[in-house]
Amino acid sequence: MEPIKAIAFDLYGTLFDVHSVAAQCDRQFAGRGREISMIWRQKQLEYTWLRTLMNRYVTFEQATRDALRYTCKHLALDLDESACQTLCDAYLRLQAFPEVPEALRQLRGLGLKLAVLSNGSPHTIGAVVGHAGLRAAFDHLLSVDPVRAYKPAEQAYGLAEQAFGTGRESILFVSSNGWDATGARYFGFPTCWINRAGNVFEEMGQTPDWQVRGLDEIVQLFSATA
Ligand code: LAC
Repeated sequence: MEPIKAIAFDLYGTLFDVHSVAAQCDRQFAGRGREISMIWRQKQLEYTWLRTLMNRYVTFEQATRDALRYTCKHLALDLDESACQTLCDAYLRLQAFPEVPEALRQLRGLGLKLAVLSNGSPHTIGAVVGHAGLRAAFDHLLSVDPVRAYKPAEQAYGLAEQAFGTGRESILFVSSNGWDATGARYFGFPTCWINRAGNVFEEMGQTPDWQVRGLDEIVQLFSATA
């Protein structure tokens, strides 16, 4: 395996907890926060996959808003425009997982180039990373928006090669989403799956090169070989 020179991180669910919006959902719809958040996230992902397959791209904000509207209709919850905006705004202020800031700092300290490669838009990625005070941790914040195709489309992963100016074999791709890690592996990245919940991996013909419980274990991987 080629030496790793750079790391591209998925954003939602990998560096940031998408279910940190459940608290705001609970304030709007008492006791339903977790349920809303789970259905909302799954539908958001489905819409990104389906729109890419249909070649009917919309921004991540739009797909997220559409998924929220579906979720509330599905649950027979009355979502007015104000509540919709409040909940969508909560997606811009997600909580980073606790080990993330220090792990990113240490990975940079090891001389690795770091990027986010996310289905989010430039606006949503910038807002989430900025709100957490982590902008300086990254050399690049990469949105799939320029290629108008969501991961796991190949052209989305190609953005990391272009930004880092190095071949895919030297870029580690890190995601907590098994489908995303699978797509990245097929694209040709060495891949690390973050499995915080002890899930099983997808059955789609690929296995990650590494499986860890958090970014701190990635630091250990590189520190051991530094
Ligand atoms: C992202 C979603 C897929 O950040 O987790 O691209």
